[in-house]
Amino acid sequence: MADSTSEIPIPIRVQENATEPTSTGQKIDPWNVQGEIGADGVAKAINYNTLIEEFGTKKILAEDLERFEKVTGHKPHRFMRRGIVFSHRDLNLILDRHERGETFFLYTGRGPSSDSMHIGHTVPFEFTKWLQEVFDVPLVIMMTDDEKFIFSEKRTIEEVMSYTAGNAKDIIAVGFDPKKTFIFSDYDYMGGAFYKNVTRMSKMITLNTARAVFGFNDSSCIGKIHFGAVQGATSFANSFPHIFGDDDSKTSQIPAMIPCAIDQDPYFRLTRDVAARLHYAKPALIHARFLDALQGPGSKMSSSVDTSAIFMYDEPNKIKNKINKYAFSGGQDTMEEQREKGGDTEKDVAYQYLTFFLEDDEELEKIGNDYRTGKMLTGELKAKCISELQVYVKGFQERRAQVTDEVVADFFSAKKLEWKGNPNPTVVAKEGGEAGASAEGDGKLSKSQLKKIEKEKIFAQRKAEKEAAKTAKAGGS
Ligand code: TRP
Repeated sequence: MADSTSEIPIPIRVQENATEPTSTGQKIDPWNVQGEIGADGVAKAINYNTLIEEFGTKKILAEDLERFEKVTGHKPHRFMRRGIVFSHRDLNLILDRHERGETFFLYTGRGPSSDSMHIGHTVPFEFTKWLQEVFDVPLVIMMTDDEKFIFSEKRTIEEVMSYTAGNAKDIIAVGFDPKKTFIFSDYDYMGGAFYKNVTRMSKMITLNTARAVFGFNDSSCIGKIHFGAVQGATSFANSFPHIFGDDDSKTSQIPAMIPCAIDQDPYFRLTRDVAARLHYAKPALIHARFLDALQGPGSKMSSSVDTSAIFMYDEPNKIKNKINKYAFSGGQDTMEEQREKGGDTEKDVAYQYLTFFLEDDEELEKIGNDYRTGKMLTGELKAKCISELQVYVKGFQERRAQVTDEVVADFFSAKKLEWKGNPNPTVVAKEGGEAGASAEGDGKLSKSQLKKIEKEKIFAQRKAEKEAAKTAKAGGS
């Protein structure tokens, strides 16, 4: 069970990682997703196991999948079964809560940086939608239009806000339940309880820490340095009184579970550290890997490069042509060779996309075996991938056509949400329980507990100020 102190060493790990390049040479953070560059100058596939070590997260193991199934009564999503959703922080604590019938909420987001969403963008949202169905809990989706303005040289506020509107429609088309989902734009929602948490958080992050966690330097604009507090504050249920109510002593103890791509982890490592000091519930995380670009492992899908990805607006014929023409093949050069030696499913993009989108485990296994033994040819594998993607993209486009402005307004409205959580808790809730830094217990805090927390906050703040003064003395940079 995580207590408030167990998290403290993690930012220190981060500091080490952020200042020294990792030994593998790969670079994964919110702004870079880059595999190790080999001696030949070619980027290698990202090594997700070393990321788990570097970031200090936990790998999702077979026993975690078993427990997930036992607690939820659902077979784990294919992303979990196939190591696409591969890592977590405190998933076990969320399952504990669900067993006891205690509330948590889901939180995910998108930085609206362009109008063209591709199949890689929809992966975390597909997974989040499934989690919402499985757990029957509220979901908050943050559109970080402010982030995309602050972090871009060129984009205007008007531009990013227009992407928010369009991207929100795309996200809604994934199939979220409007009764349980609140979508907001930072530009619109900033203020009130949310802004209070933003400032509570920003007050606890020194320039020193922001630099260490995110790699900022003296030339970074202060907006970037502050933004971590914005993305982090959404992890706290008391940022959303219209969903969870006004009683801070209760709502601050409701944890979030955040499904996200692994590059977002630095934000939440920082958030978990601050949460402990604020005596708020720490967010749990569940991390997804990236979908490789059509050009193969080590390449990255880009919204601005049409041939790098399948986009959610691609026509069936375009999907076919892109896969046939650009999808990196793990197959052999000739049919004879393929029959004799078989193909490499590790490198093959069409096969990889099938692992993301083909639901049937047995069928996938058979395809893999047939391809590796040469029974299946590249053209056949690609044809299967094309038809799966055509179905997936078409389903999306049909739902997208139904998303009117009224539907969007409903998702963005600060209305009460309706959810049931676990209707049949199998474990009895603990009496009282040590409320505070862990994801445990949403019982109300007593007056003396609140007083103690207040004191500790002041203490933590003084400590942060002292630390900052020390850094300044030491010459800043
Ligand atoms: N920073 C993310 C992006 O650029 C958006 C985001 C905000 C997010 N909060 C999140 C993503 C929580 C995943 C989970 O896309």
